Amino acid sequence: MSSAFKQAKQQLRDQPGTWLVTGCAGFIGSNLLETLLMLDQQVVGLDNFATGHQYNLDEVREQVGAQRWARFRFIEGDIRNLDDCRQAVQGVDYVLHQAALGSVPRSLNDPLTSNEVNVSGSLNMMVAARDAKVRAFVYAASSSTYGDHPGLPKVEDRIGRPLSPYAVTKFVNELYADVFARAYGFSSVGLRYFNVFGKRQDPNGAYAAVIPKWVSAMIQDQTLQINGDGETSRDFCFIDNVVQMNILAALKVEQHNEQAAQDQSPGIAEVYNVAVNARTSLNQLFEYLQTALAANGVSYTRAPVHADFRAGDVRHSQADISKAREHLGYEPSHTIQQGLEVAMPWYVAFLR
Ligand SMILES: NC(=O)c1ccc[n+]([C@@H]2O[C@H](COP(=O)([O-])OP(=O)(O)OC[C@H]3O[C@@H](n4cnc5c(N)ncnc54)[C@H](O)[C@@H]3O)[C@@H](O)[C@H]2O)c1
Repeated sequence: MSSAFKQAKQQLRDQPGTWLVTGCAGFIGSNLLETLLMLDQQVVGLDNFATGHQYNLDEVREQVGAQRWARFRFIEGDIRNLDDCRQAVQGVDYVLHQAALGSVPRSLNDPLTSNEVNVSGSLNMMVAARDAKVRAFVYAASSSTYGDHPGLPKVEDRIGRPLSPYAVTKFVNELYADVFARAYGFSSVGLRYFNVFGKRQDPNGAYAAVIPKWVSAMIQDQTLQINGDGETSRDFCFIDNVVQMNILAALKVEQHNEQAAQDQSPGIAEVYNVAVNARTSLNQLFEYLQTALAANGVSYTRAPVHADFRAGDVRHSQADISKAREHLGYEPSHTIQQGLEVAMPWYVAFLR
């Protein structure tokens, strides 16, 4: 484990804080919630169940036990409503803002709602957090911000034009974060997640991500469809790496804010890639899933069918993670295959 992360966890155990996790009923939010409660933190959660589920919260409660669960306060509310955001940030030290409508195809079908939630909702969260003078603000950005930039691996300061409304919304969050740092001295870190996967990622619905969608199809012995030739590649990132980065980033912003209060230094608005610095093609992914399923007693032998490339998708994606390593001491704890090994028993139990 990264020694910086080990230290960070010890620091939190020694001096517990109060955290707000927006989108806490979703995939990434519920995993953050679980880790923070296991570290004996106080947690406030905000979610409107647009794509999240009560059963994710129920599962976290089971995992952490009644005593830790008592440190959690849930607010059913909407980030599009500024009053809900203000209520949620009350008394909070650290904000991990995850709530959003994910999915490139969803945003192509309904750009208005993606914009309302991801842009106006995130702006509400920044205003509420700024006014409440929280100690740190961290938000979910996205690798989609690299858009059509051909460079590989992706380096934080070299981006192209967005390829979807979703990518626009995530980039606008970064622009607001930057302006908030300069105009109000409000510091933040944006985490550009690259194709995250792990337990509680929703396998259902038209906008499911590729790993849970395929695992679901494979467990049900359905033929699965690969968009394009299968050589499209991604830097798949196991959820534990994302949790690590959120905690490291929150403590970094807090540290900056403490320093800034003393020497009047300006706000920061950093962005970091969150991935592994590996590249896996969809064809390889298919094989990894077959192997991980076989280890859990599921044999899948159907050949996949190939369909058209999907609109708005980038061809290749791979993160340079040296900035996160150097600034935050980030060290991915799991490769894609190690992550799949950990996640697969959960999927098999959930889907069977
Ligand atoms: N999963 C990935 O690979 C990935 C990649 C890049 C970025 N992200 C970003 O990470 C964040 C979390 O994604 P996820 O994969 O956990 O998705 P998710 O859909 O599982 O979780 C999002 C949560 O936000 C909630 N939410 C949506 N609209 C809301 C609103 N108006 N008010 C309050 N809550 C609302 C949903 O109900 C859900 O619980 C999002 O910001 C997403 O854009 C995810």
